[in-house]
Amino acid sequence: MRIGVLTGGGDCPGLNGVIRAAVTKGVKEYGYDFVGFRDGWKGPLEGLTMELNLETVRDILPKGGTILGSSRTNPFKIDGGVEKIKENLAKHGIDALIAIGGEDTLGVATKLDALGVKVIGVPKTIDNDLNNTDYTFGFDTAVNIAVEAIDRLHTTAESHHRPIVVEVMGRHAGWIALHSGMASSGAAVLIPEVKFSVEKVCEYVLSSFKANRAPIIVIAEGAIPQDGDMVIKDQSLDAFGHVKLSGIGDWLAAEITERTKYETRCTVLGHIQRGGTPTAFDRVLSTRFGLQAITAIHEGDFGKMMALHGTTIARVPLASATSELKLVQPSLYAEAEVFFG
Ligand code: F6P
Repeated sequence: MRIGVLTGGGDCPGLNGVIRAAVTKGVKEYGYDFVGFRDGWKGPLEGLTMELNLETVRDILPKGGTILGSSRTNPFKIDGGVEKIKENLAKHGIDALIAIGGEDTLGVATKLDALGVKVIGVPKTIDNDLNNTDYTFGFDTAVNIAVEAIDRLHTTAESHHRPIVVEVMGRHAGWIALHSGMASSGAAVLIPEVKFSVEKVCEYVLSSFKANRAPIIVIAEGAIPQDGDMVIKDQSLDAFGHVKLSGIGDWLAAEITERTKYETRCTVLGHIQRGGTPTAFDRVLSTRFGLQAITAIHEGDFGKMMALHGTTIARVPLASATSELKLVQPSLYAEAEVFFG
């Protein structure tokens, strides 16, 4: 059996953990061969490969990013893209493909599965917004990075009696904002799922100062004000039709300054949240996903995504993971709201 592996979409800590686990178990237990496809779907599309064996994966578990490279290539947007992928898989003698990615990469995997490609999906994204899995790896690392940053921002905010707005990633789902804001006593947490009132945020700022605290407002990049629109960087779209976000934090900081007269600063955490070594949680989760992906291949159970259900690694239909996004439920948001202000 010869297995192809690719990582697509925005990178995240833990991708190498999946690659290492799949290759190690595949080689040691079943004698499988592996081929790494470079840069997401661009790899099988253009026949870009790299060697994957016990030697190449041995020391990669603590390494951030992905040794395979990544891209947001969408083969369904390229003329003859699917045929080229099928040709290249055949040329390299690939019997099964492991696609490690988020909604876009696994969306492509879902369509290829329907077209007869033997594919297994592994969910990754710092955004934690893939459906039918309790967590994706990368999320825990991103939250811990954000919490460390916010803890540091608290001390400088207090010294200068300033509000600070911290913009974190999360286009459609506010998981990073919710968890990092709860873990670091944010004076407000603003997420895409719940439109926010600038007036209310300013009330939280003033009540924080009254309680002798300098407020930190944690805002997801996709959060939307009640009387406004999502803030985008420019008009360009990626191959999956996504806009580039970022800017809402600066916008909100200016509004707070004007309305409360407290000089407000904004810190955009950006790609720092996606970089560096994975936490122990993400190392273990990515490893378990990689191991189970090989078991699924060994059992011929294709068209499935590995998923965390409680503490068990389950297999769910690929389509169920990508048909809708996993958003923050109102009840969870209400738990965070208790601490606002
Ligand atoms: O991978 C998801 C994500 O981190 C989003 O939260 C963010 O909007 C986007 O990627 C940024 O993508 P890029 O690296 O292409 O700027």
